[in-house]
Amino acid sequence: MRSVTLSRFLIEEQRDKNVISPDLRLLIEVVSRACKAISIAIGKGSLAGVLGSAGSDNVQGEVQKKLDVISNEILLDANEWGGHLAGMASEEMELPHAIPNRYPKGEYLLLFDPLDGSSNIDVNVSVGTIFSVLRCPEGMDPNEQAFLQPGTRQVCAGYAVYGPTTLLVLTLGDGVNVFTLDREFGRFVLTQGDVKIPEETREFAINASNSRYWEEPVKRYVDELLAGKDGPRGQDFNMRWVASMVADVHRILSRGGIFMYPIDSKTRAQGGKLRLMYEANPMAMIVEQAGGAATDGRRRILDIQPEKLHQRVPVILGSKREVERITSYHGQ
Ligand code: AHG
Ligand code: MN
Ligand code: MN
Ligand code: MN
Repeated sequence: MRSVTLSRFLIEEQRDKNVISPDLRLLIEVVSRACKAISIAIGKGSLAGVLGSAGSDNVQGEVQKKLDVISNEILLDANEWGGHLAGMASEEMELPHAIPNRYPKGEYLLLFDPLDGSSNIDVNVSVGTIFSVLRCPEGMDPNEQAFLQPGTRQVCAGYAVYGPTTLLVLTLGDGVNVFTLDREFGRFVLTQGDVKIPEETREFAINASNSRYWEEPVKRYVDELLAGKDGPRGQDFNMRWVASMVADVHRILSRGGIFMYPIDSKTRAQGGKLRLMYEANPMAMIVEQAGGAATDGRRRILDIQPEKLHQRVPVILGSKREVERITSYHGQ
């Protein structure tokens, strides 16, 4: 079989289909290279002394792992000088990172969660990188305001999963493609084109230790799943929770399911747990492009007008019918 590398795929998207600009192609190439570097750092683990805590807190109030900081640095360094970006924003940085004056500037804004699932890093469980690309509004400096665009404006979104294999999952708003890192050659190869999430599922993902804090619609929905074939759903459901969003979402992309990090009485004051700009929006775009759905329980995630860079949001995404069901419970 002829193997299509990410580079070839992107060149064809630009040249033959006109789906992306040369600068967006460069951006994705650079991000994929950064993900490769992160994958290598993660793969070395203790041998390179990269595990454990960095001894600092981020703007989210979380203790930073060394690899949170290293991954953030890798993405910044890789993307600073190419001339394709106006600015960057990250889960790990309080303020947007402007491109230094010594480098040319481009029209895109890059947002990322450099290391997703970092609580799993020290126990050797899959982690990832999530990213989202917006256009910088014309004539605007890449300050916080420039980034506050709804997810519908994303021109590209993707994630890397650093698991048994390293994968890059990408959407340009034209379906979802999966690339596998060929470690010997150091390149990503297209291994699954136009992925679609199965509409029906018997699997769900939620951190059930929060159940006493949930709202009524979430309790009802999960109770019905747990009742299995004796309940209103008339069938048994299986539960999975990796606690790395990338791994949970990737499982859903592969075999269907629903992922929920709903608002609860513990996270209400901050608006939810997951971050709209670095986690919810890119994942919602990918899931919708794969035929699934993503809401905050009430609204489509991609329609939310962000008010703050580090805004948090409840997230319910995955197989369409299940997302529609629990979303309708919220309306009742
Ligand atoms: P991050 O490591 O980037 O801070 O994200 C962690 C997120 C997400 O990946 C995961 O779904 C969720 O936090 C897990 O939360 P719990 O530990 O509360 O289950
Ligand atoms: Mn974090
Ligand atoms: Mn995350
Ligand atoms: Mn993170």
